[in-house]
Amino acid sequence: PLASVWIAVLAYLFGSIPVGYLLVRIFRKQDIRTVGSGNIGATNVLRSGGKGLGAATFLLDAVKGYAAVMLAAHLAAPLIPTWPQRNVEALAALFAVLGHMFPVWLRFRGGKGVATGFGVFLYAAPLAALAAITVFFILVALSRYVSLASILGAASFPVFAWFTVSGQRPAFFIAVQITVASLIIIKHHANIRRLLSGTENRFGAAKNK
Ligand code: G3P
Repeated sequence: PLASVWIAVLAYLFGSIPVGYLLVRIFRKQDIRTVGSGNIGATNVLRSGGKGLGAATFLLDAVKGYAAVMLAAHLAAPLIPTWPQRNVEALAALFAVLGHMFPVWLRFRGGKGVATGFGVFLYAAPLAALAAITVFFILVALSRYVSLASILGAASFPVFAWFTVSGQRPAFFIAVQITVASLIIIKHHANIRRLLSGTENRFGAAKNK
């Protein structure tokens, strides 16, 4: 129905706000896409723009995803009463992440979806999102590879969701979890290549040199 198109479009627009790009443009007068890994995500903003901007990027990228799903749940779900609430949330979650990854404003070249993915699922499957981000932080601490931690954190999420989400679990909701996790991993293809060849950026490496 028409309501689902609206949910998708609005969630996409929320997700497509290129937070990292805007913050670095405004506060550093730089194009984040031309520095470090070239990614617009929190890791690269931290790497090239500093801790404060990096943290703000993670936070706001997560907030936009959380807000997109929350708005869909509160405003749109009542318009499609025949849809399970979880499917409404899943639709918004998927399109918010797609907006972040493929923003029309940056010629569809966006981020890798870690912070936004965390934000959307913090609303839709909070315990699993918290468990996955715990895996992420432990792996960052152990390996100093943010990308490796992101990949394994994303992969762990649908598993945690399987065990922590109670009540109704429609197939579409589960499919969206797996799709988002897969998209995050695919978006890390350049990182995976660098990890395999031993050339990936190690967090904090500059300081140790
Ligand atoms: O979430 C992105 C992170 O996993 C890797 O970022 O800038 O090192 O490619 P980057």
